[in-house]
Formats: sequence, structure tokens, C-alpha cells
Amino acid sequence: MNVLGIESSCDETGVALVRTVVSGTPQLRAHALHSQILMHQAYGGVVPELASRDHIRRVLPLTEQVLAEAGATLADIDVVAFTRGPGLAGALLVGAGVACALAAALGKPTLGVHHLEGHLLSPFLSADPPEFPFVALLVSGGHTQLMRVDAVGRYELLGETIDDAAGEAFDKSAKLMGLGYPGGPALSRLAQQGRADAFALPRPLLHSGNLDFSFAGLKTAVLTQHRKLGESPSATQLADLAASTQAAIVEVLVKKSLAALKASGLKRLVVSGGVGANAELRRQLNEAAQRRGLRVHYPELDLCTDNGAMIALAAAMRLQ
Ligand code: KG4
Ligand code: ZN
Repeated sequence: MNVLGIESSCDETGVALVRTVVSGTPQLRAHALHSQILMHQAYGGVVPELASRDHIRRVLPLTEQVLAEAGATLADIDVVAFTRGPGLAGALLVGAGVACALAAALGKPTLGVHHLEGHLLSPFLSADPPEFPFVALLVSGGHTQLMRVDAVGRYELLGETIDDAAGEAFDKSAKLMGLGYPGGPALSRLAQQGRADAFALPRPLLHSGNLDFSFAGLKTAVLTQHRKLGESPSATQLADLAASTQAAIVEVLVKKSLAALKASGLKRLVVSGGVGANAELRRQLNEAAQRRGLRVHYPELDLCTDNGAMIALAAAMRLQ
């Protein structure tokens, strides 16, 4: 069975084709992505109306590209999957509208997929796929959650952010430091040149005794430190602040993930969502896992941020 997946929840149009197999993980046949980053950069963030209009422009050419790369035609599609939320309403509507129209024209069913379930299952497409059960650390631009995952569709929320998401902490800190959008990759690049212990920033809820997160206070602390640096901070000061900010976010994510593993008695962690691309987070998690005899699985780097492959995969895994 071939599942076409369409992702259009925010600033990336993603389309992919996966094939189910008799036993095992569905296979990715082809995927294509158009990022709107350059278009939104001029505005310092995502402009929803521009996002919707660009999804309209991109979704059919990307679909044609994916089918051509897979050596398939429209007639080979058995199910059309799309992101049904959460996301920008107008942007979601483009993917849903195209998916439903295409499916109706082909006489095939549609399947709406939760965006976070797509992220959650995306590591199954990696060279080192996980096995159930596991603890998932879901860190995207809008969500930060720890989940116990026993099977496809069997998810138990262990903890989540009570205010900003980890990706938001990266993005907002980067913005107030003048690093532009999207902030996460920019801040982590700058952090490579800085000292992580240069500024003492808070580790919110680190010792709260539960698995919840809070990042809003950290952003305020970064703002205060940035103001103290005056009108024109040096490159070194900025790099130090970036490294200190990243260290605070990463430390909380690592410690809470380890606490979730301990509390659930599981030995396997799966990291997904855009912040899962962060090299320092991966380094610290791998180091901690090695010390404690745990396994950590990640999506391939190009499937960490939004993409169509994870939507097609999640739909195919549900159908299997
Ligand atoms: O999962 P995603 O593509 O979109 C949502 O579903 O929100 O995640 C985007 C988030 C943004 O906040 C972005 O800054 C962050 O992931 N991000 C990173 C890195 N790459 C993307 N944050 C830290 N380090 C990175 N390398
Ligand atoms: Zn996402």
C-alpha cells in the first residue's frame, strides 16, 4: 500500500510517499520539501497569510516531484494523509483541502494525522530505528513533552511545558539577541564559539520533582543579561550568552529525560521535533546514555524539522 503524506502546518511544505511492508517499518519511497524560511526572514517570523499562499503554490509541484522520484503515478496512491493539526489554520487548510480533493478525485480514502504524532514516529525512518516501548522527548517550536510510548496510538503524557516550548526559548532568545529567524539553528551555531558557563542563567523547574518544564523565565533572564551588555555587545559576549542560553535549555531537557526514564523503568529514549537537531543536546544525551546503559534514538537530521515523510509514515504505521 502506498501512502502519500502532505505536511503544511507552518512554514514548510512537505510531501512524501511511503510504502507499507508486510512486517516492519513502512519504507520511504521519496520525499520533497520547500522551506519558506527565506520568505519569512524579512519579517523576523512566520507571517500566516504568506505561509498559506506559499503552500498553495508549492504543494502540487512537490507532489509531482515526489511521484516522479518514486517512479510512481497518481494511480499508485492508496491513501492520502495530511497534517490535521496543530498548526496555522490557513496553512493546515491548504494541505487538508488538497489531500481531500486529490483523494476524492482518485476515489481513495484520506487520513488526518496529528502533527506531533508525525514527529514522535519520525525516528522509525532513521538508520537506527527504536523499538517499543520507549520514552519520547518531543521538542518542537510549539511543544515540549515527555511521553511514554507503548505502541502506535498508545501514548501517555508524563510531563510538558507549562508556558513556552524549548524551541520557543531558542527562538525568542535568538530574536532578542538580534540573531533573526529561525533562532534555534542560529543560536546553536553562535554557541559553538562561546563559553557555556559565562552567564549564570536559571534552570527552571529542574528540581520540581515532576516532569514538567517552564522556559518563559529563562527568556526573561536572557533579556536581562543582554540588556546589561549595553548597546553594542562584543562578538565574544554574544557567543557566551548564546552558549549559556543553550546550556540552560539543554541541561533541563537532559535531566528531565533521564528522570522520565528512571520513573518509567524504561531504557530507551526517542528524541524528536526541531530542537532534536541540536548538536549539544544530542552530545549530552549520548554521553549520559552511555554512562547509564541507555539507548537514544533520533530522526535523521533532515527529518527533525517539519516534513512530509513523518506524516506519511505516521499514517502508514496507523494503517498497519
Ligand atoms: O518541529 P519543528 O520544525 O516545528 C514545530 O513543529 O514547531 O521545530 C521548529 C523548532 C524551532 O523553534 C527551531 O528554532 C528549532 O526547532 N530548531 C532548533 C535547531 N533546529 C531547529 N533548536 C535548536 N537547535 C537546532 N539546531
Ligand atoms: Zn513540527
